[in-house]
Amino acid sequence: MNRFNYFMPTKMVYGQGVVKEAGAAFALGQKPLIVTGQSSARLSGALDDVLSVLSGEYAIFDQVENNPSVETVKQGGALARREGCDYVVAIGGGSPLDAAKVMAVLAVNDLDPLELYQTGWQRQALPIVAIPTTAGTGSEVTQYAVLTIEEEETKKGLRGSDLFPQVAYLDPKYTESLPLAITYDTAVDALSHLVESYLAKRATPASDFVALQGLALWGTTIPALREGVLDLETRDALLLASSLGGIAIAQTGTTLVHALGYSLTYYHGMPHGRANGVCMAAYLDYTKTVAPERVETILELLDLDSVASFGELMDTLFASQIEEVELTPETLAAYVEKAMLTNNIKNSLGDPGAEVLTQILTTSIG
Ligand SMILES: [Fe+2]
Repeated sequence: MNRFNYFMPTKMVYGQGVVKEAGAAFALGQKPLIVTGQSSARLSGALDDVLSVLSGEYAIFDQVENNPSVETVKQGGALARREGCDYVVAIGGGSPLDAAKVMAVLAVNDLDPLELYQTGWQRQALPIVAIPTTAGTGSEVTQYAVLTIEEEETKKGLRGSDLFPQVAYLDPKYTESLPLAITYDTAVDALSHLVESYLAKRATPASDFVALQGLALWGTTIPALREGVLDLETRDALLLASSLGGIAIAQTGTTLVHALGYSLTYYHGMPHGRANGVCMAAYLDYTKTVAPERVETILELLDLDSVASFGELMDTLFASQIEEVELTPETLAAYVEKAMLTNNIKNSLGDPGAEVLTQILTTSIG
């Protein structure tokens, strides 16, 4: 009999209009710190909905950039302290959601963000409400927050059970205003979570159940993604698939794809999902040699006949956006070395070494 844990303490409230329907029950305390990026919280209508259900005071930090920095979370944490906030409302894509989680920690722990990686934190983070406006990150149902660490020239994840939001409001309408390129980038991030979770060493029967359901759902959106015309039903499927991806990686973690993708994002500015998407076909080709049935199942659920078709799908989605990335042998070796330091490699099937990673990166970028 398998032995495993399954932990997902976030209350998910899913459907159109759920924030407004929550009404007074939306507030988890007296005064929230609302954390957003620079546009999607407003454009999507999510911020207006939140403000309409809040009756008292609030503070707002609306300057979270893509791939949030240590400085940003420091400022947000200080604002929460100064304003006496007692919970956090995170609205946006992965960047605002992840930044908000760390601000919720810093609001009650007088630490430098970098110390969180070294020593952890003592006091429980403020309670978090998460409202995604993209369908990709899954952060609304995970215990992870990823920051950009300039000192180490990479993105790095923090984890803590208090980083699971207390409530996630999932309204597909909020993703309707997303431009197509961001829709693709984030959708492929969700896909990479589902694929990597199913191919993780730490996969369990419960995480597989979630990942497989998510992959089947993601698969139904492929014709619309190819066409570039996304109705609300497709947005709905993508948002749910993305949350299922989050639930799955909350149990299993991610694998080498995320580890390699971080360098493409940090050094080449490639959006996170796209960076993963670029590496995924070569990853599947490699994993086929160590777990052929698992890769076959993924392809079947996506209704793709081969890994090559998977690669073509990625090429189609990113056709005009993949800027040329040229890597010298030295740069490539440096990215591989950086990836080898992560736990993601130990979590990848087949115990890949530097040679395998080099092969995957060369094939992906070449
Ligand atoms: Fe991701």
